[in-house]
Amino acid sequence: MWAIFYPIGEPFRLSFFLSMITLPGLIDPHVHLREPGATHKEDWDSGTAAALAGGFTLVLAMPNTQPPVTDGDTLDQVLDAARHKARCDYAQYLGAGQHNPDTLVPLASRSAGLKMYLDQTYGDLRLDDMGLWLAHFAAWPRGMPIVAHAEGRTLAAVILLSALYDRPVHLAHISRREEILLIRAAKQRGMKITCEVTPHHLFLTQDDLSGGRGEVRPRLATAADRDALWANLEVIDCFATDHAPHTLAEKDAPNPPPGFPGLETALPLFLTAVCDGRLTLEDLLRRMVTNPRRIFNLPEQPESWIEVMPDESWEIRAENTFTRCAWTPFEGWQARGRLSRVVLRGREVFRQGQILSPMGTGKNIR
Ligand code: DOR
Ligand code: ZN
Repeated sequence: MWAIFYPIGEPFRLSFFLSMITLPGLIDPHVHLREPGATHKEDWDSGTAAALAGGFTLVLAMPNTQPPVTDGDTLDQVLDAARHKARCDYAQYLGAGQHNPDTLVPLASRSAGLKMYLDQTYGDLRLDDMGLWLAHFAAWPRGMPIVAHAEGRTLAAVILLSALYDRPVHLAHISRREEILLIRAAKQRGMKITCEVTPHHLFLTQDDLSGGRGEVRPRLATAADRDALWANLEVIDCFATDHAPHTLAEKDAPNPPPGFPGLETALPLFLTAVCDGRLTLEDLLRRMVTNPRRIFNLPEQPESWIEVMPDESWEIRAENTFTRCAWTPFEGWQARGRLSRVVLRGREVFRQGQILSPMGTGKNIR
């Protein structure tokens, strides 16, 4: 075996004849695990099993649960469920609400960060009143991450707040050409913003899925938008799945909720892109390990790695996944490169399609 150290400092090993690659455990800074309130879609058990089956050893969970994680009691409740059920490492976001800018402050150090929903999405956690944006920016401790869901002009507004308060803001699931160009321009001016893009906005367009199954926020965009994301890869700091499971019965009913599962399809999609020459492994590791770790101030996970068979060709099928929602927008896609093993803190937790870690193995990294 050779050890190869890439400039970003993440070692990975190539085994004989490239038949196996060892990479660091992946980090997903944007997942929805649905507990409490909607455990028929997902819970800390199934969601963290899906994470491991996708090569993620650390996930950051969003607060738009039912009830939303906007106070200490709900944070305690979520962290209790996670402590008993999580199979990979994790942290939990707090949600910016109408009455909680000050009461969140003492909870901040126990959270992944503050999530601000500035545009409509699933759940009620939307902040329309810009005065509340100011209150949250003023109160939330410096040094703790802020993540904003902001689309189009709202994105321009929150970038201004980042500049006015002189503090970093991470911009969730950027999906359109105008948005990535705005972020490029703001970064060129030295603004302290970072951004993530989802696999579905990089690999799908509005023409690929119809009806409720195609509903997601931000919406799937045009081929020109998708191509602009790829053309501005250097502006993208993280790949985040925005894993947002809803059941097929819900997706196919009237008023379908927006969201796609993504934890188990991201790595194979990106490995396929590496195989096709659209990405390098270094590009992937920067956006799925090094950058999220830096942006969210996450600890290294000692003795943790994943093993991938880069040459294995296979078909993505929902029936082989662990997410409780039991579907994928990538059904039937051909992938090249398959996860074979995951080791978390010295313990084998996934091998050849089987989850080996018991519930409760995962640690709260905050
Ligand atoms: O499509 C989405 N679904 N976008 C979001 O921002 C939230 C998510 C969910 O929670 O279902
Ligand atoms: Zn989300």
